[in-house]
Amino acid sequence: MAMAIYNIFLLFLCFCQLGHKITASDEQKTPSHTLQEAYDVLGIKPNPDGSLTREIRIPMVNATPNVEPTSTTQIALSKDIPLNPFTKTFIRLYKPLNPTKNSKIPLIIYLHGGDFVLFSAKTVIFHEFCNQISAQFPAVVASVEYRLAPEHRLPAAYDDAMDAIMWARSQAVCGNGSDAWIKQLVDFSHVFLLGSSAGGNAVYHAALRALDLNLSPIKIRGMIMNQPYFGGVHRTESEIKLSEDAYIPLYVNDLLWTFSLPKNANRDHEFCNPLMIGRSYDLGKIKRLPRVMMKGDDGDPLVDREKMLVKFLEANGVEVVSIFNEGGHHGIELSNTTAAQELYDAMKNFIHSTLKFKHINH
Ligand SMILES: *[C@@H]1O[C@H](CO)[C@@H](O)[C@H](O)[C@H]1NC(C)=O
Ligand SMILES: *[C@@H]1O[C@H](CO)[C@@H](O)[C@H](O)[C@H]1NC(C)=O
Repeated sequence: MAMAIYNIFLLFLCFCQLGHKITASDEQKTPSHTLQEAYDVLGIKPNPDGSLTREIRIPMVNATPNVEPTSTTQIALSKDIPLNPFTKTFIRLYKPLNPTKNSKIPLIIYLHGGDFVLFSAKTVIFHEFCNQISAQFPAVVASVEYRLAPEHRLPAAYDDAMDAIMWARSQAVCGNGSDAWIKQLVDFSHVFLLGSSAGGNAVYHAALRALDLNLSPIKIRGMIMNQPYFGGVHRTESEIKLSEDAYIPLYVNDLLWTFSLPKNANRDHEFCNPLMIGRSYDLGKIKRLPRVMMKGDDGDPLVDREKMLVKFLEANGVEVVSIFNEGGHHGIELSNTTAAQELYDAMKNFIHSTLKFKHINH
């Protein structure tokens, strides 16, 4: 009798131990943050109809279509032109203030960052980024005002990127209707896709989709993914190490993916985790992607996924120029002018070296 009670006591002890262990490991997997904390970090408030109210923390600025004779800082001109009247998207188009006479320059289709949920082509940090690349490369830049989630879940942003690519093609085809800046400056055989963070993710998907279309006479010669925003169900080492990152902590990313992915999809959906292949894109298609520049920073939780994607692309015959910096953080070029200049220089080199190749992909 005494023995039996002792055993039950032991069993009880074991049970407590087990219970304790389960709790501990769950806590490791799920950092203890409330949903409210994530909303506060992002400056968003969910509405009953599923939309978000977004606090505008970074100012938006108007386009600058006119030369300002007294300005010492103006380096490019910009103007907003409608893209798709049904989705109410537009393009903010940039051209260098002083383009070289009689020489054609590349067209860069740019997709801004903001986790598919925040920001705009008008947001000052992206506006300045486009002014710089237009003046420095030099290039005509078409910054796409794409639709945001959760009001418009993926693939809405990819659809809008495709609208921008088809708009570029229509500019090339329809000599009459084309925009004056584009007509004057753009070499349509020198088109590049460029995206930062969520925009980098959209560039990847848009480039894959573009392989199925006849884009002639335009040619997408390369794609630049700057710290592209990808994820997955299983955590990478960098995500675990930097789970409490000051810029994109894991619990915030997890919430953002629930906003942007199709309803009921998890983070292994192809939109989030491009390495879940076999479901979507066949490898023969991956091989036909144009030349890629991948830029990452090892202080960014996303860096491991970026390295994995590079390995995957290279294994499938895609030519990749990778630039992985020590330190840094997500969006470093938006707050650090030295890092920004390094990125502009690297992108410019990538574009010029890509255009030296006689061989044109697909
Ligand atoms: C340009 O406009 C003319 C006159 O409207 C038309 O005949 C011609 O087909 C147009 N060209 C293109 C490339 O659309
Ligand atoms: C800014 O970026 C440069 C170059 O990447 C780096 O050396 C420097 O430490 C950064 N500065 C700050 C304040 O993070």
